[in-house]
Amino acid sequence: MAIGVCYFPEHWPQSRWSRDVEQMAEAGLEYVRMAEFSWGVLEPTRGEFDFEWLDTAIELVGDHGMEVVLCTPTATPPKWLVDAHPEILQEERDGTVRAFGSRRHYCFNSEQYHEETERVVTRMADRYADNPHVAGWQTDNEFGCHDTVRCYCEDCAVAFRDWLREKYESVEALNEAWGNTFWSQQYQSFEEVDPPRHTAAESHPSRLLEYYRFSNDSVVDYNRLHADILREANDEWFITHNFMGRFDSLDAYSVSEDLDLVSWDSYPTGFVQDRLGSEPTPDQLRAGDPDQIGMDHDLYRGALDRPFWVMEQQPGDVNWPPYCPQPGEGAMALWAHHATAHGADAVLYFRWRRCLEGQEQYHAGLRKQDGTPDRGYEDAKAAASDLERLAEGSLEHVDAPVALIHDYDALWALSEQPHAPTFEYWDLLNAFYSAVRARGLQVDVVHPSTAFGEYDAVVAPTLHLVTDEVADRLHAFVEDGGQLLLGPRSGVKDEYNKLRPTLQPGPLTDLVGATVEQHESLPAQLETRLARVESDDVVDSDEAYPFRTWAEWLSPAEANPIFAYDTDGIEAGRPAVVRNAVGDGGVCYCGVWPESDLADELLESVLTRAGVDRCERLPDGVRIGARDNYLWVTNFSSESYRLECPTGVSPVIGGRVLDAFDVSVLEGDQLEGLGVSRLD
Ligand code: GAL
Ligand code: ZN
Repeated sequence: MAIGVCYFPEHWPQSRWSRDVEQMAEAGLEYVRMAEFSWGVLEPTRGEFDFEWLDTAIELVGDHGMEVVLCTPTATPPKWLVDAHPEILQEERDGTVRAFGSRRHYCFNSEQYHEETERVVTRMADRYADNPHVAGWQTDNEFGCHDTVRCYCEDCAVAFRDWLREKYESVEALNEAWGNTFWSQQYQSFEEVDPPRHTAAESHPSRLLEYYRFSNDSVVDYNRLHADILREANDEWFITHNFMGRFDSLDAYSVSEDLDLVSWDSYPTGFVQDRLGSEPTPDQLRAGDPDQIGMDHDLYRGALDRPFWVMEQQPGDVNWPPYCPQPGEGAMALWAHHATAHGADAVLYFRWRRCLEGQEQYHAGLRKQDGTPDRGYEDAKAAASDLERLAEGSLEHVDAPVALIHDYDALWALSEQPHAPTFEYWDLLNAFYSAVRARGLQVDVVHPSTAFGEYDAVVAPTLHLVTDEVADRLHAFVEDGGQLLLGPRSGVKDEYNKLRPTLQPGPLTDLVGATVEQHESLPAQLETRLARVESDDVVDSDEAYPFRTWAEWLSPAEANPIFAYDTDGIEAGRPAVVRNAVGDGGVCYCGVWPESDLADELLESVLTRAGVDRCERLPDGVRIGARDNYLWVTNFSSESYRLECPTGVSPVIGGRVLDAFDVSVLEGDQLEGLGVSRLD
């Protein structure tokens, strides 16, 4: 378990470097990431490389007992390269060229850029192949940041046609699979198929989905180009890439196949402002949302099913969200603990020092611009010393009893046809994910191809696009005694994003034991409430269970209704949630987007049937994470809580009172008897 930092020695006079590195070592840091945007200094003019500055910086880091993570510098092709080859630039849907002057302006399908990449990566890899201080590499930086996975240039058009030829073999097969008779969209040859550029109305959904898959594959190939060169130079290096939070357009599972280690960049108070479907609360503005970042930790841990890194951790206030409140006292340390509980093996803060130049002058570092320590420095130091006490060496991998299925195909399809302004895929996932986390359980966020049999319970917030193969495997999982909680809009589309000819949930119908008679999306003015059903009667009690945005009227065959619409509208009394027993297991199908009480209720019944131990429902800001015989209790709220520990257990870090934005760590893995109560 380690703490580290991202450092840009090239932004500072060399006379400063040894002080900087000394102060890093003093804080207990172990890794220093460098060089991710350094092409302009490494190769100031074509073919003339200057590695000396980097050699010196690496040496300094090594001399202070720390290790270096190097990055390939390809996120920022320099001006001389762009001027010589303007064709490497990306084009937007409307033909706008993404010009030089920021970063990520290159196209993933430019052959010229592939050659340039090979050239610079090979030079760097050869230079450091025998350097004992370089532990591993990050490829590029945040593939797709600033919405750059999808490019619409002519190189992409050519590559897209090749990709389609390979997949469909004949254009007739493509027309058939997509359903191109709609609005006369048939093609007579692959040559006629363009990227889905700007057009009058929305583009064909099958064409869009294929373009998104193709664009993703282009990044996979481009990443592999880096990985192959680096492995060839030194096969003991680890190779990673730093993914982003709640990021739509890049399938982390597919890119990770070429990596040894998955990492991602976590900016909690920014993410609650620009990628959460609800207004952030005051506490979220100070510390972020533990489930929003928790789900990303679990996704990136799940991508290779091994410990991950946080390659960039928010160090304080940052420059890019709408507002930049100062994080709560201790929040920067809290985030490192929270990440560790979710399976991180290292957390590197971004950046060492607030920068005097360029686009990110309003971004904090661990040190202020004058070199004095900033708030993040003290937190990083505290986290480093806590984690060293907990784990001299490394912690074991997280062992999660529950899997949550996440599918980029569904995300891509739903993002084009959300059918409601508030239908946001990640938020739907979060509704189910939060319910599991509120019971103190670890969750693996998994690809649909995962072996479900390893888990006691599987939660699938939506299987919008589902293949027969996945449906069959889920069926087998339940037959064998598994418990499945399945959410709305499941079994709707085929793999080409075409409506299935059977009623929803299509290939999942036998498993669910019910079909969907109608669906509707509902704005806030319409009633969205369920009530329990017992012996086929809606229980008229004060206990109403709200839902939001999406409603399906279910028609049960073998399944039993367990919740129905408790409204005055045409849907009143119709089943909304059903349960079916199949073989030795069971499935609960929830035809609405549940609010937290309903999600908790459904999950509870699934966990009870699956025999999973859990704790009392935790308050929203408090989460527990078990790893390697430790339990982290993290408080993302400004409330103080008293911690109830199981008999004989006391905290090894922190105390029995959890203050605002505080953490306590207990020994053991027993959730029973663990709880928190508010201190007034
Ligand atoms: C990340 C990026 C960094 C820096 C940081 C600012 O997305 O990888 O280079 O820009 O954001 O918060
Ligand atoms: Zn392109």
